[in-house]
Amino acid sequence: MLKRLARSRKVILVRLISISLGLLIILLPPLGWTQPITGPGAIEPAQLRSGLSFASEAIATLQKDDDLNPAFLWVEQGQKSWQQSHGTPNNSCESCHQEINTSMKGVTMKYPRFDEATHQLVNLEAQINRCRVQHQHLPALKYESDELLGLTAVINLASRGMVMQKTLTPDLIEPLKRGQARFEKRRGQINLACMHCHTQNFGHHLGGETLSQGQPVGYPAYRLEWQKMGSLHRRLRACLSGVKAEIYPFGSQALMELELYLGFRAQGLPLEAPEVRR
Ligand code: HEC
Ligand code: HEC
Repeated sequence: MLKRLARSRKVILVRLISISLGLLIILLPPLGWTQPITGPGAIEPAQLRSGLSFASEAIATLQKDDDLNPAFLWVEQGQKSWQQSHGTPNNSCESCHQEINTSMKGVTMKYPRFDEATHQLVNLEAQINRCRVQHQHLPALKYESDELLGLTAVINLASRGMVMQKTLTPDLIEPLKRGQARFEKRRGQINLACMHCHTQNFGHHLGGETLSQGQPVGYPAYRLEWQKMGSLHRRLRACLSGVKAEIYPFGSQALMELELYLGFRAQGLPLEAPEVRR
């Protein structure tokens, strides 16, 4: 009897310890934390849908098979660029970072990040160019150049299938707020905000298109209308032009703030890039 009591006390003690450890982990102040986005532009987690789910059957067929997906022409180019060495000693992306699918897995989710030195957001395209300029002493690649699109595509491909998750570090709070304000603000001669089309009206038709939720997880994407691959910034500029608003330059902080907000808003969706679009 006493023995059994002693044993059950031990069990209770072990349980108490594990419960308090659990509580401690929950209550520990977070260093960086993931949190859902709120506000009128946000979408309930259960309602999240990627652009692919709004696409026609013809596009979905192209998307399903990497051999049919024209974006993979840029992926091939990206793989070549990754390995191409410049100067001596052998200095390629690969010589510093090794195999792309291992070293770049999950990297997409960390971008745009906040750069302490310049106090600016740096997206993946900008980071690739930093490496070219600072580590390879090469000129920056032009936004929308095939080489930059290819490198962005292969790096994103290394994270394909992973679920979008973001970490809100303190330095991202202000840029994220600005991105959210940009998403919710009416603009242009048409006087619509991003959220009017992509939060309040997804699934409805506009001209010949079905409005999606405006998720960023498929970019860079091959767009049939462009007959080439295009970056997320190119897509955002097309939306700004659609409402006849000011069109921010490629790589501008305004577009990066929107990109940052879109990333947080997409948390829970699998990464699907590079995709095909109408
Ligand atoms: C007048 C409606 C309208 C407004 C306003 C608008 N867009 Fe779009 N957007 C579209 C259409 C149409 C497409 C192409 C079809 C689709 O995916 O919705 C699109 C596509 C997108 C896509 C690509 C989605 C995908 O999966 O391919 C993103 C991202 C996006 N918009 C973001 C934005 C952002 C950010 C804003 C505000 C700066 C904005 N849009 C404003 C109509 C709009
Ligand atoms: C001489 C070494 C070197 C070369 C060559 C190099 N990088 Fe980097 N790369 C770095 C270092 C160091 C970092 C860490 C951040 C920094 O210093 O910018 C980095 C960071 C990155 C990141 C961000 C990784 C993360 O986890 O945030 C990406 C993406 C990247 N490099 C892509 C490339 C690409 C693409 C090329 C070729 C065009 C390239 N790098 C060439 C050294 C290199």
